[in-house]
Amino acid sequence: MALGKPALNLVSEPELDPAERMSRDELAALQRDRLRATLSRAYENVPHYRTSFDQAGVHPSDLKDLSDLAKFPFLVKTDLRDNYPFGLFAVPRERLLRLHASSGTTGKPIVVGYTRNDLDVWAEVMARSLRLAGARPGELIHNAYGYGLFTGGLGIHQGAEKLGLTVVPISGGMTERQVQLICDFRPDIITVTPSYMLAILDEFRRQNVDPRDSSLKVGIFGAEPWTNAMRAEIEDAFRMDAVDIYGLSEVIGPGVSQESVETKDGLHIWEDHFYPEIIDPQTGAVLPDGEFGELVFTSLTKEAFPIVRYRTRDLTRLLPGTARPSMRRMEKVTGRSDDMIILRGVNVFPTQIEEALLACDWCAGHFQIELTREGRMDEMTIVAEARHNSWDSASLDYHAEKLASQIKGTIGITARVSIRPPGTLERSMGKAKRVIDRRPR
Ligand code: DLL
Repeated sequence: MALGKPALNLVSEPELDPAERMSRDELAALQRDRLRATLSRAYENVPHYRTSFDQAGVHPSDLKDLSDLAKFPFLVKTDLRDNYPFGLFAVPRERLLRLHASSGTTGKPIVVGYTRNDLDVWAEVMARSLRLAGARPGELIHNAYGYGLFTGGLGIHQGAEKLGLTVVPISGGMTERQVQLICDFRPDIITVTPSYMLAILDEFRRQNVDPRDSSLKVGIFGAEPWTNAMRAEIEDAFRMDAVDIYGLSEVIGPGVSQESVETKDGLHIWEDHFYPEIIDPQTGAVLPDGEFGELVFTSLTKEAFPIVRYRTRDLTRLLPGTARPSMRRMEKVTGRSDDMIILRGVNVFPTQIEEALLACDWCAGHFQIELTREGRMDEMTIVAEARHNSWDSASLDYHAEKLASQIKGTIGITARVSIRPPGTLERSMGKAKRVIDRRPR
């Protein structure tokens, strides 16, 4: 724990949900029962699953043990698009209390739906997540995730109410007002994407308010990849703790897994509701815990939108539980397989660039990666903002070259580095767009 401000009330051990206190064996038995029920629900009620199970020659009754799940076919993003909008729902539309959608970059959005019970489960896992992040009933939470079809705003909101927090549903945007309300309402906790937190930080400085004097004690950051270097940057700037939250609309929204404020060692997956596997992204083979690959989820309790072996494309690995011993952790997500850039045969993720940039004094964490093509060669330019204006151009050139050669030495790619004055890169109000691909199609 950090960092100079009065600690949150972590002294008395809070009431945990029974599942958070289960032994690993008890949890495995629960998972097996729930998995059987999910496979049956999907097979009986969703034509897509009936067809895909039949084609693979498997039946829900083939699941005798958790490891039998590997016999079942994957669900992939195109299956969701092909069944747009309601084709994968396992209950009549009239039983849904809410729809959410994720925009996606191409074509139709992905639509997800929730029964009353699904919303209750979501509130429960979100409340657990907030508690693991250090939140306690009675505290004030400034929720700057977007409200609307995106699951971030409403997902955090209902979990915060369930835990008994006072929620400020400010949503994203209007950065000046974000700072004003943080100063006036004195929240304990902020929930927001890490990239938008940097924009809020800029605004504190623009208003000449010292962010270290703010009331914020914990920031719960997610919805996009971010590094431990970014954690250190934000923790130092605000003198607060920064923890990671993960989730995706297809699985439920935020609250699939959460990092503990006390251990900050990756994210505990709420395994009584979401069953994780790691697979080799090329072969689809299940990998043992500890090995790095693509995260796959099967929902264990969802009624409206059960998912069986959904390939998230997020890359990470599974580790044993610590703060919640029976729940496995996932390591911080390195990136999505679709975000991986292959530059002249070398794979690189935006998070690797973020780490390299934040190791430099001159960089405050605002950056973009531009991809262009010159002749037949792909080129990468890392465009990053300087922290302040006081650098002369000779020293900026020096720093740009130094970073380019460090990146060549550590990551193995040749990239140009272009350092721009503070405030020149566009700020995101939600998920940052890190890669601008200008290569001809
Ligand atoms: O981003 C849900 C969410 C809201 C999570 C607020 C956390 C906080 P989608 O819009 O469906 O849902 O996007 C899901 O975002 O597959 C990951 O690629 C990425 N992502 C989410 N959380 C993290 C994280 C929400 N902590 C997609 N680290 C996922 C890295 C994350 N990537």
